[in-house]
Amino acid sequence: MKWQIALGTLSVVATVIVLAIVAAGEPRRMAGFTTSYQARQVETGALIFENSCRPCHGAQGEGIEGVAPALNAADLFNGNRLRAIGFAGTVQDYVRATISSGRPVPSSGTNYPQRMPTWSQRFGGPLRDDQIDSLVAYVMNWEERALQGGAEVTQAPPGEVVGTDITVPLPAGNADQGKALTEGNLGCVGCHILGATGPAWLPSGDTPGMGDRAATRFGQADYTGHAATPEQYLLESIVLTNAYVVEGFGPDLMPANYGQRLTPQDAADLVAYLLSLR
Ligand code: HEC
Ligand code: HEC
Repeated sequence: MKWQIALGTLSVVATVIVLAIVAAGEPRRMAGFTTSYQARQVETGALIFENSCRPCHGAQGEGIEGVAPALNAADLFNGNRLRAIGFAGTVQDYVRATISSGRPVPSSGTNYPQRMPTWSQRFGGPLRDDQIDSLVAYVMNWEERALQGGAEVTQAPPGEVVGTDITVPLPAGNADQGKALTEGNLGCVGCHILGATGPAWLPSGDTPGMGDRAATRFGQADYTGHAATPEQYLLESIVLTNAYVVEGFGPDLMPANYGQRLTPQDAADLVAYLLSLR
């Protein structure tokens, strides 16, 4: 009988030891799980951002002048923007709330021509709750670098800029490069293809594509600019946006600083791409 009691005691002790070892490892296992879950969320968020947010907020959330504010900026994460509008919650709540319901009315002091759209299905937008969560995780993932002051991606390309003289000869352009530029942080597609803030570039119905329009615009009776060739017309449209305002649109809608942001090569590539849209 005695040896049976001893064996029973021993197995209870062994079980307790095993349980203790497993329990000790649990927080680490859970932390590992949480980290990989967060990493996956950030990855998913990056994909959604690329398609839905980049046209207005830029590839790295650096913002596009005249289109949408920077999201990778210190003043978002240090609470300055929240305080400015009297928001009492955390930065994360603010980011989630803005993405979910959008900003149908512009904040005071801003005059972006396009509104921040509503994204959550709860408010009639296209995205599910888990997709909103991923976007919040992605935006919040900029916090550390933004607060260290290293995150702001410069907007101006390095080196020479094309300026606003439309008679300067441009280098040979590459249409594929130009197309890629319009999809990057210059924000062109946000207004000209995804949105209807600017004239559509692609042909539709009776309206010819941008390449064909460029060939005839400067011959029109109402033309107020100085272009003498289709290439000059396109360059002028980009760097001197108010020289001629397309009928049906207002002035000052297109960002006015592309002349200071584009290199001559960028400008040539954009012009080559636009000319190819027939
Ligand atoms: C059509 C352009 C456009 C698109 C697309 C867009 N936004 Fe915005 N977003 C804006 C504008 C404009 C504002 C500033 C609104 C204001 O304050 O008047 C803004 C503001 C924000 C803010 C608040 C920033 C602040 O400082 O107050 C967040 C966060 C944000 N957007 C996230 C996103 C995310 C995430 C997506 C993609 C799901 C997205 N936006 C897509 C235009 C856009
Ligand atoms: C914030 C919105 C916005 C952005 C961003 C924008 N545009 Fe525009 N664009 C407009 C509007 C509005 C017009 C029409 C008014 C005018 O002529 O200025 C226009 C006109 C044009 C025209 C003349 C169209 C025609 O039918 O003759 C061209 C070409 C053009 N934009 C190219 C570009 C390029 C290239 C980019 C990016 C480097 C760009 N735009 C970025 C809003 C925008």
